[in-house]
Amino acid sequence: MGLLWKLLVASVGIALAVYFYTGQDDFKPEMLNGKRAIVTGASSGIGEQMAYHLARMGSHIVITARTEEKLKKVVSKCLELGAASAQYIAGSMDNMEFAERVVKEAEKVLGGLDFLILNHIGQTYFNYFDGDVGHVRKLLEINLLSYATMTVAALPMLKESGGSIIVVSSMAGKVALPFTVPYTTTKFALDGFFSSLRQEFYFQKTNVSITLCVLSYIDTDTAVNAVGGAIDTPPASKEECALAIIKGGALRQREVYFEYWSTKIPLLLRDWAPDLLDRMSRNVYNLEKIGKH
Ligand SMILES: NC(=O)c1ccc[n+]([C@@H]2O[C@H](COP(=O)([O-])OP(=O)(O)OC[C@H]3O[C@@H](n4cnc5c(N)ncnc54)[C@H](OP(=O)(O)O)[C@@H]3O)[C@@H](O)[C@H]2O)c1
Repeated sequence: MGLLWKLLVASVGIALAVYFYTGQDDFKPEMLNGKRAIVTGASSGIGEQMAYHLARMGSHIVITARTEEKLKKVVSKCLELGAASAQYIAGSMDNMEFAERVVKEAEKVLGGLDFLILNHIGQTYFNYFDGDVGHVRKLLEINLLSYATMTVAALPMLKESGGSIIVVSSMAGKVALPFTVPYTTTKFALDGFFSSLRQEFYFQKTNVSITLCVLSYIDTDTAVNAVGGAIDTPPASKEECALAIIKGGALRQREVYFEYWSTKIPLLLRDWAPDLLDRMSRNVYNLEKIGKH
């Protein structure tokens, strides 16, 4: 049993190393040149950084979020960085008519679509579940149903271009972490919706890739302010994270893990040793800091 276990761990290690070190360099920024992309939640954080990377690569970009002033600034910076074109549409993704309208307006200005990058999230809390089921419902609308609505609206264009859907999720959408009950619920649901849809695309021979991005703790203002020292692990760079997402989407990868080892290793434990993983993840939190900010 001891030997079998060692062989299994060694094989998994080798397979991971081969997977990680091959295929990663196939990416070329020119892959995004002239491509048409919608990026949601692009007024700040990872979405904003994705817009800048796409701009440097010469893409046509339509960005969206609620705050018009921030979107205007992101659009100007995208144009300075070399975007083929950049526009914004302001509104809230708790409204499914707005979600659909973003796709329709993007169609008018872009004339088609290559990348649908779904990244926005509604505001929530980092604390024990407060029993407010209404908040869970609201967050499901913003974090899940608007993604589904935009996907349905964009599919005809994506089928025509052989395009890609990039879904920004989280470790909290693969492993049940504490203090984020409403958020975790929505991120698990995203995996169900998009991974099931990917299987159907295979049967239907739909040439549209779906990339689910599993992110660790990233240094955006929202995340750092919400966590407020309650997690010991240092956050990873939002610029690097944004680039990893775009590369994975352009390479039509099934899933992106960022940072790779801090997401992939716990996921290996998840199904084989869930109690161990639960215990390990509980050790990451400073309980005295939960809800103190
Ligand atoms: N940062 C992390 O540690 C981390 C870890 C794992 C996964 N992720 C994932 O990465 C993605 C981006 O996170 P982030 O940290 O970059 O967040 P962020 O900086 O807070 O950005 C969220 C974006 O969503 C927009 N937004 C908020 N409410 C909205 C609404 N009702 N309708 C439309 N847009 C709305 C915000 O702009 P407005 O306020 O202007 O609307 C903003 O542009 C999310 O999917 C998140 O789950 C992040």
